[in-house]
Formats: sequence, C-alpha cells, structure tokens
Amino acid sequence: MQTITLSNGVQMPAIGYGVYKISNGEMPRCLREALECGYRLIDTAQWYDNEEGVGKVVAECHVPRSELFITTKLQSGLRVADRIDESLRRLRVDYVDLLLIHWPMGNDAATWHSMESAYGCGKVRAIGLSNFYGDDLEKVLRQAEVMPHVIQQELHPFRQQNELVMRYRQMHIVPQAWSPLACGRQNIFSNPVLTRIGKAHHKTAAQVALRFLVQSGICPIPKSVHKERMTENIDIFDFLLSGEELAAIRALDLGHGLFGWYD
Ligand SMILES: NC(=O)c1ccc[n+]([C@@H]2O[C@H](COP(=O)([O-])OP(=O)(O)OC[C@H]3O[C@@H](n4cnc5c(N)ncnc54)[C@H](OP(=O)(O)O)[C@@H]3O)[C@@H](O)[C@H]2O)c1
Repeated sequence: MQTITLSNGVQMPAIGYGVYKISNGEMPRCLREALECGYRLIDTAQWYDNEEGVGKVVAECHVPRSELFITTKLQSGLRVADRIDESLRRLRVDYVDLLLIHWPMGNDAATWHSMESAYGCGKVRAIGLSNFYGDDLEKVLRQAEVMPHVIQQELHPFRQQNELVMRYRQMHIVPQAWSPLACGRQNIFSNPVLTRIGKAHHKTAAQVALRFLVQSGICPIPKSVHKERMTENIDIFDFLLSGEELAAIRALDLGHGLFGWYD
C-alpha cells in the first residue's frame, strides 16, 4: 500500500475505505472484504453509529493493529476526552490513527485543545478537521498549538477546491477526499472525459477519478458494499495520468459542491 507521510512523520495509506451508511450488521462482511482487497485505512465517525461494527472486525481480523489506520470523527462540544475514550472502547483499540472534528459548531477551538491533549498522551496519532472553511477554519488555525495533520472535505473531479488544497500543501496539511466518486452524482461513472481517459489505460471512469486525486496528493476514501467495486477502486497504482489528461480532468471542476449541507 502506497502511503503519504503526515507532517509528524506518521504514514497514512494513500487510499482508504469509507464506511458511512454501512450498518453494524453489514460491517463484518464489508470490512472483511475491504481488508482482503488490501485497504488498511478505515474511515468512520461517531455520527455514523457504526464504530462498534468496525471494532468487532478490527478485533477479530488477522491484520495486525499496527498495519491498520483507523480514522474517526467527533463533533465539538463538552466531554471531548470522555467521548474519545468511548470511541476507543467501541473500536476496541488503545489509540486511533486520526481524529477529526466532523464539522464546525462554533466552540471548535476548545474541542481542538482537548484533541491536542489526546494527541499528546498517545490516544490519537494525528488530528485534523473536516468541512472547515472561512472563519471556522481560521479560528482553529489561529489558536492551534498542534497544526492539523489532515483536512477532509468534499473533493472529486467536479469539486476540486484547488486554492484551498494548494494552501494546505504549503502548510504541510494532507488533504483527504470524502465522496471522492461524487457519491455517483453528475453521472460520474459514465462521464465522457473520465471514460475516454480510462479506455486509454484499460481503467474505468471511477479508477481515473480516484487516480486523479492520488496523483494530486489527495487521499480518497471511497465507499462500496460490493467487493468487485472495492477491488476496482483500489486498483489505481499501476498507471499514470499524463499532463494533458490531468488538465482535461481539471476542466471538469464545477466550482461548487454537490451536497450543500456543509457550505
Ligand atoms: N467528513 C465528512 O463529512 C464526510 C462526508 C461524506 C462522506 N465521508 C466519508 O467518505 C466516504 C465516501 O463517501 P461517499 O460514500 O459519500 O461517496 P463515494 O465513495 O464517492 O461514492 C459511494 C457511492 O458510489 C458507489 N460506488 C463506489 N464505487 C463504485 C464503482 N467503482 N463503480 C460504481 N459505483 C461505485 C457506491 O455504491 P455501492 O456501495 O452500492 O457499491 C456508493 O453509492 C464515506 O463512506 C465516509 O467515510 C465523510
């Protein structure tokens, strides 16, 4: 598995498996299959209500903990230290590899300081933000003693956020892409540009979209409950997009998000 080095030296897999909307019941089959396909980064959240399902597989699978990279997310608020401990208990681990604030809620600097404490005592190996823009982002950055290692946000060929991604890169923050396949919107799987480029490399439109992100230094976390799609989505490390192909995909940017709820 190709990795990206975070600013604190932690190695993060270059692609992960997102488990949003996968229930605790479905989790054993889906996550075991994802691990069989080679995924090592698992992206969950307290809000997904499936950390228990992830924890069950983590405890029972044959992949050593040190080879897994587990991300979870919490919301700002009170009792942050307790809520981190609750996640560790549900996930059946001593530490998570990455902890994110899921979205801004106004009292995020205090939450960030509690996350810095958890980072300091080894309960989390890296910390970051998700869906933070404008003032919400600046407030946390201004008060941070530990800068975010990762920022997760909507990123795919139709939503590229190039200026922000460039700024993250200058700050040594790794961008991570949620809904890297646009959750199937805009007919991404039959998009003519992605399909044409894919044909030249014997790849699908989905693989081209994910390769585009990886080649841009962005870590995608696609979700699928189908093993053949899990296999397809991770099989993106044996081809290279040319400058011309990257430019054609860059031109697909719509300049706005497709989901709306976090803008
Ligand atoms: N931080 C945040 O606020 C936030 C927000 C949204 C998502 N996320 C994270 O990002 C992960 C991925 O996002 P997402 O689930 O919204 O969207 P996504 O990964 O862009 O797309 C998932 C959808 O595409 C389908 N799919 C996957 N691979 C495919 C392929 N190769 N060919 C055809 N269809 C394919 C899946 O269907 P099947 O499952 O039926 O295969 C599913 O409907 C989530 O699971 C979650 O971990 C985070």
